[in-house]
Amino acid sequence: MRPETMASKLKALNDWVDDVARLTRPDSIRWCDGSDAEAAALRAEMLADGTLVELNQDTHPGCYLHRSNPSDVARVEHLTLVCSKNQEDAGPNNHWMDPAEAHAKIDALFDGCMQGRTMYVMPYCMGPIDSPLSRCGVEITDSPYVVANMRIMTRMGAAALARIEREGTFVKGLHSIGELDPERRFIMHFPEELTIKSYGSGYGGNALLGKKCHALRIGSWQARQEGWLAEHMLIVGIENPQGETHYVAAAFPSACGKTNLAMLIPPEGYRKAGWKVWTVGDDICWMRPGKDGRLYAINPEAGYFGVAPGTSRSTNPTAMETIAHDTIFTNVAVTADNQPWWEGLPHGTPVTDWQGRPYDAANGPAAHPNSRFTVSAKQCPSWSPHAEDKQGVPISAIVFGGRRPSLVPLVFEARDWTHGVLVGAAMGSETTAAATGAVGVLRRDSMAMKPFCGYNYGDYFAHWLSFDKPGAKLPKIFHVNWFRKGDDGKFLWPGYGENLRVLEWIIDRCKGAVGAQETPIGHVPRKDDLHLDGLAIDGTALDTLLEVDPMGWAAEVADIGHYLDSFGARTPEKLKAEQRRVAAALANA
Ligand code: GDP
Ligand code: PGA
Ligand code: MN
Ligand code: MN
Repeated sequence: MRPETMASKLKALNDWVDDVARLTRPDSIRWCDGSDAEAAALRAEMLADGTLVELNQDTHPGCYLHRSNPSDVARVEHLTLVCSKNQEDAGPNNHWMDPAEAHAKIDALFDGCMQGRTMYVMPYCMGPIDSPLSRCGVEITDSPYVVANMRIMTRMGAAALARIEREGTFVKGLHSIGELDPERRFIMHFPEELTIKSYGSGYGGNALLGKKCHALRIGSWQARQEGWLAEHMLIVGIENPQGETHYVAAAFPSACGKTNLAMLIPPEGYRKAGWKVWTVGDDICWMRPGKDGRLYAINPEAGYFGVAPGTSRSTNPTAMETIAHDTIFTNVAVTADNQPWWEGLPHGTPVTDWQGRPYDAANGPAAHPNSRFTVSAKQCPSWSPHAEDKQGVPISAIVFGGRRPSLVPLVFEARDWTHGVLVGAAMGSETTAAATGAVGVLRRDSMAMKPFCGYNYGDYFAHWLSFDKPGAKLPKIFHVNWFRKGDDGKFLWPGYGENLRVLEWIIDRCKGAVGAQETPIGHVPRKDDLHLDGLAIDGTALDTLLEVDPMGWAAEVADIGHYLDSFGARTPEKLKAEQRRVAAALANA
């Protein structure tokens, strides 16, 4: 680490660090260089003070557990604000506060908050360090756990600092865990100032500022101004037996299957035939048109912050292999021999729950439903050899999806870009444990960006539509639903690896190599259009998965119309016209 006297070559950065130190009054300042020695020293300190607990090093070398404050285990949407000068620019999709008022409010919390603590200054790069699509930031924090996670999730340290010094600009992120008091907690974004201020939470999405705060909220704002897209999407490469790889970008809300789809293991028959799946990203995608008119995407992150519960050898063996070593686990349970444990693992018995109490089923699940692993992408066996390509990978298909227990078919294809933007805008999903609040409530979550779009959704829809221009070779747009339930409340589709069957149809549609049935909501595969050999699923389940109920859809599309109107004059007329077109097609069906 650089001693505190050794500031950067960039005056704007030094001045900001000085200002923050004057406000927060830390005992010492450390500039992070991202080195192994620095990480080892920090880990030793965290083990000594209990921030980290060592897990069984024989079974899980390099793995540690962090237990959060029990009131601090998820994103807090009601305390997350976009503080643009003009309230309308933040839109009804965001909580807003006047920037001057917001600064005053949060600076009062930051005042003296780092006394007795060390202040860490972390330069980081979102995206491959040499990519023109990447963007840099500096996060200041008083949490060594945040430093350890940011080191995995971003390119953090000396190389990022050198890029920042060269470019002269960076996103400023100030974070303190404060008192971890939910009454004294805010996650504020000042897009016009490229600034983030986060106080009172140590949880991933609230505290690792490179991730949701920078790469999505500030990123989406920058992307609109600069003509690109910052999206809540995984990026996966599907290689067929002929050796062709097609890249798919897919937006699902938090805890709706992005990490799993990004690491999919092909079903046995596909594997034997030579299909391979390559992981580029599991949560965030930055994409822009290339010279050839196609969209090219990078993953701005360097690691995975994945949901632990439900991850097992049968659902996601790739993730299991990825997290077998050198992983930080947050809020999982532990077994008698000190191995990490969560619901969905077939082996092992929890003895200590996520709060460190003796496990008692009466207290609820042993692992928190939003317990997580943080691990370097490089450890993933399916990590794409093109994941660090500085020009990004070309996207063949964009997929939207969510948790829809009824109505929405397994997959359908939008007729064109405008219809696809409507399909994305209309997305709905049941809420999950990734954010505090009720779970299982259906809500609209356009493009899976409801918690992350840093500006007015109406303007965002217009920005999406603007990509359809002469010379553009845009990806086809699809919608999937792995979460349709039968009358017994069980999922009708087996999901996970079997989702490759749906991706195959999607890619074949992009190539014009497979059929579909035209319906008012888009193109839906007929049973024969999907390869279902070797799949244990009964015919009636499949009928339900592929059916389009015109009455149910008419009500859904009417509701989408009201939803689009909720963004007032900012909703593009072209999108409303598209909604009316679909409504009319349903009325005539
Ligand atoms: P992410 O937060 O969007 O990255 O979602 P994850 O991939 O971590 O998955 C969240 C939860 O959904 C986990 O409990 C998974 O086991 C579960 N899940 C993921 N994919 C599927 C699927 O295809 N079918 C079903 N039924 N569950 C899934
Ligand atoms: P997720 O990422 O989408 O993998 O759940 C974290 C989050 O969105 O809070
Ligand atoms: Mn996410
Ligand atoms: Mn994930």
